Amino acid sequence: MKKETIGLIGGGQMGEALVRGMINSGLVPAGRIMVAEPDGKRRDSLSQTYQVKVTDIAEPLCDFASVLILAVKPQIIRPVLAQYKVFVGSNHLLISIAAGVPISAIEREIGRQRIIRVMPNTPALVLAGASALSPNEQASAEDLQLGMKIFSAIGTCVHLPESLLDAVTGLSGSGPGYVFTFIEAMIDGGVLAGIPRPVAEQLVLQTVYGSAKLALETGKPPAVLKGMVTSPGGTTIAGLHVLEEAGMRGAIMTAVDRAGKRSKELGS
Ligand SMILES: NC(=O)c1ccc[n+]([C@@H]2O[C@H](COP(=O)([O-])OP(=O)(O)OC[C@H]3O[C@@H](n4cnc5c(N)ncnc54)[C@H](OP(=O)(O)O)[C@@H]3O)[C@@H](O)[C@H]2O)c1
Repeated sequence: MKKETIGLIGGGQMGEALVRGMINSGLVPAGRIMVAEPDGKRRDSLSQTYQVKVTDIAEPLCDFASVLILAVKPQIIRPVLAQYKVFVGSNHLLISIAAGVPISAIEREIGRQRIIRVMPNTPALVLAGASALSPNEQASAEDLQLGMKIFSAIGTCVHLPESLLDAVTGLSGSGPGYVFTFIEAMIDGGVLAGIPRPVAEQLVLQTVYGSAKLALETGKPPAVLKGMVTSPGGTTIAGLHVLEEAGMRGAIMTAVDRAGKRSKELGS
């Protein structure tokens, strides 16, 4: 990456994950990162753990950074942007990760700057996130490339039009909620069958992790991988029959669709 300097607005969970990802992947050295964070204890912890610069006000952050990453809760976006408005200009790329906040709302607060909106998800906290990213018209191809690099440092990243970000929210944004519900149910199933809970948990977590890893590393479609464990008249097809009868696929598809629609409702 060129000599970009990064300014995080908000040193909370996601802010810290981004700092860790950028430094650990070698994308940006700690000396080129500054975090603006109101909580003194958080500032001390971030500067001690990562050797990044810290501040509690907008001006030094905007003087320092060419890329500003807005990582505060969506509810406080407006007052925070009001603090930054006078310091943000065409020399900055502003990246917002605030869930459900449209680019148009950010432009209303700070003008038509170079803006990229990103929808990450919670596995980003362990650098295994899935993010979708949409630039506005002012953002250049180079800005987009830079955004892709930053969010690839905390997992995987795709470029999509902003009109699809609500659907992404229902899919990968809310997705961990569906997966954890599935994980919990599988563990309970193991307990029902007599397996001690901690053992069931260990087996289920590794099964889910290993299945995703297998799909990612072989590149084989899920249907083919499912076929590998589904022998005629065997155990897996007996279990799958129950899931199909219960309408699991339809329920999951509707859940993704409904969550996306809810995201749209909340954002409007
Ligand atoms: N966590 C996720 O996995 C995830 C997934 C998708 C999207 N997001 C989005 O990411 C954003 C951040 O989420 P999070 O989980 O990291 O929240 P968080 O842990 O609450 O972090 C937000 C941080 O911003 C700080 N802050 C408040 N006002 C500020 C200001 N004026 N200037 C600079 N910093 C300020 C907060 O400090 P105080 O606590 O002292 O107020 C807090 O440390 C949210 O918009 C959320 O929608 C998060």
